[in-house]
Amino acid sequence: MTDIPAIYQGKLNTLDQITVSPLSRAYTFSDSIYEVIPYFLGKPLCLKEHFNRMIQGSNLMSLNVDFDSVNNDIKKLAATLINQDGYIYYQISRGVDMIRSHMYQDDLEIERFGYAMPVSFPSSSVSAMLCTDDRWGKCNIKSTSLLSNVLAMNKAKSLGCQEVVMHRDGFMTEGGSSNVFYFDSSGSVRTSSLSENILPGITRSILIEALKDTPYSVKEGNCAVSDFNESPCIWLTSSTKGILPLSSLIGTDYKFEENFDNYMDVAELFNSAMQSHLAASE
Ligand SMILES: Cc1ncc(COP(=O)(O)O)c(C=O)c1O
Repeated sequence: MTDIPAIYQGKLNTLDQITVSPLSRAYTFSDSIYEVIPYFLGKPLCLKEHFNRMIQGSNLMSLNVDFDSVNNDIKKLAATLINQDGYIYYQISRGVDMIRSHMYQDDLEIERFGYAMPVSFPSSSVSAMLCTDDRWGKCNIKSTSLLSNVLAMNKAKSLGCQEVVMHRDGFMTEGGSSNVFYFDSSGSVRTSSLSENILPGITRSILIEALKDTPYSVKEGNCAVSDFNESPCIWLTSSTKGILPLSSLIGTDYKFEENFDNYMDVAELFNSAMQSHLAASE
């Protein structure tokens, strides 16, 4: 961990050398948003889309961010990932507030923090646990307030799972750190429509676009969790997972058909869309 490049308030350093005040509102109130931008052989996947989501999140939180500085920070971090797979984690908080109060001071300096982590991305199937979605009402904001996700995902971990699939009143919302798609019993590809109940995933939109005008074009809408009992394949999408099928889903009668041809087609369409995005990326 000592040599992970990291940046705080525009100053490049290593992760272990960065010190942050305990009165950072990211620390006291999770008053912050974040992004995870994947890099493949040093090239970002959909950087502009991640940037735009950060701008939308900032607007929804009334954070007055200097996005030229954010851009410079991300460029500095990206320069450390030359020819490598990995991701940039980037967080923006409202700032260090000397009085711990829910109501923030008006003159806080926005806090910018990020690091570049070289990793190889997973490609094998994962198991998940179905659970109720206990999160707040604005899950479209990529906030660092993730306590509900943390509790649910660690319960899933204790059952040998790597993810959760959440639902509200019997209708699937999303995963703990991913969006969820599946084939229903009539062969359609389904996912939850965008709302304040889910994060508008960048990988989700790459996949939906890739499947447009193919036999697998995605039906967005209400997704009853009872559909999972008849589904041959459920899968996750996220920046670090890409597209990953579920081998099991505890709490349902889901039976994964490994090597299900239609899923293989979907994965191929996704991978070629991803390659086109990367080819177009600077
Ligand atoms: C709750 C949640 N939903 C969906 C996603 C997937 O979003 P993306 O594809 O932009 O990584 C994430 C990613 O971290 C997430 O945390």
